Amino acid sequence: MTAEKLAIDGGTPVTTEPFPSTALGPGDIGEEEIAAVTEVLRSKCLFRFSAGDTSRCAALEAKFRAFTGCDYALAVGGGTAALICGLVGIGVGEGDEVIVPGLTYIASASAILICGGAPVIAEIDDSLTLDPADVERKITPRTKAIMPVHMRGIPCKMDEIMEIAQRHHLLVIEDCAQACGGLYRGTPLGSIGHVGCFSLQQFKVITAGEGGMVVTRDRTVYERAAVRHDSAMCFWKPQDTTITPFAGENFRMNEMEGALGCVQFDRMAGILQKTRRLKRRLVEGIKDVPGITLHRSPCEEGDLGISAGFFLPTSEMAKKFAEALRAEGVPAASVYDKGIPDRHIYCYWEYVMGKYSADASGWPWTSPKHDPTRVYSPDMCPRTLDLLGRVVVFTLSHRFEDQHIDWMIRAVHKVARALL
Ligand SMILES: Cc1ncc(COP(=O)(O)O)c(C=O)c1O
Repeated sequence: MTAEKLAIDGGTPVTTEPFPSTALGPGDIGEEEIAAVTEVLRSKCLFRFSAGDTSRCAALEAKFRAFTGCDYALAVGGGTAALICGLVGIGVGEGDEVIVPGLTYIASASAILICGGAPVIAEIDDSLTLDPADVERKITPRTKAIMPVHMRGIPCKMDEIMEIAQRHHLLVIEDCAQACGGLYRGTPLGSIGHVGCFSLQQFKVITAGEGGMVVTRDRTVYERAAVRHDSAMCFWKPQDTTITPFAGENFRMNEMEGALGCVQFDRMAGILQKTRRLKRRLVEGIKDVPGITLHRSPCEEGDLGISAGFFLPTSEMAKKFAEALRAEGVPAASVYDKGIPDRHIYCYWEYVMGKYSADASGWPWTSPKHDPTRVYSPDMCPRTLDLLGRVVVFTLSHRFEDQHIDWMIRAVHKVARALL
């Protein structure tokens, strides 16, 4: 069959209709959110510990407990704050190493450094999440924890990661910032490791404006996280703090955020039901396209369905393929483009690569508890860069209709016929 002329070469594009916004929960903000936040404002009670039984932050915590099945949930001011509290919760401190994937937002590494630990960067595999085999290779006597990150709504290989953690007596902190509502083999993300951390920032599945949540099944982990999140936690909630107190921050969530988060939380199931269905349609439509290798999620059913992708043999081909798709009217992107400093890719974590510090002493890098020979370099995870260079990704939204997915499918077939 002769290939149709591509739009990038002057042919007719598959579609000229703009695609709907890819904003998930934040794009749905409407009268319910406005009413909920207004009610808090009218009450003039914005501080959660003054709101007592009517606290919207407490209500949001209850929703996360119910969804994850964890006994404890702590609302905080952001996803990074959740990670810091979670790390403190499991006891990560000066000199500890925490293994993180080379594909995650820089905040994951930042939280480890703020706790005095060091991020040890491991490769991702073709799931685009942490490679369990590389985790095992990166374990040293200083390793305290593993931080799987469920990036772009893709659940990590949690069975393998938990098995490695158990065998090496390590703790697991799940970064669920981009995967609120996800499951792994039926178990909610965030509830599999020793602690799970969510973000409710603007670009996430659901939002509280800013905000985060820590969930855990372990009372001590919760109490340590809670003490860290408020410098006077034992004053506000003495019943929640049976441990010896230590210095805390102001990482509290406020009642307006709690109210917004509650309404958004109730939208989550509907959003994900739609994105999961759309992703299944897309995958079905492109899985047999010759020349591309479909990205497979470690758990197709639990995957949020907010991203999909495929690999090409070279990064040049991936870049060209994505450009051709965009010319066909379909939003698609290649991920790793040298020169575009995407802070989701480890080689652009400048303060990790350069071991920069806010402290004149260079802490924590210079701590005698850390390995002085540890080096970071932009090419230290070549497999990660190779995979990210060769992948073409789609971002999916519950606002898309079948028609949008069908345009994506037609465009992939058309471009593949012409270029591969
Ligand atoms: C994977 C990941 N971890 C952590 C964070 C930090 O969350 P926040 O921006 O709410 O602090 C984000 C989001 O920005 C993220 O995508």
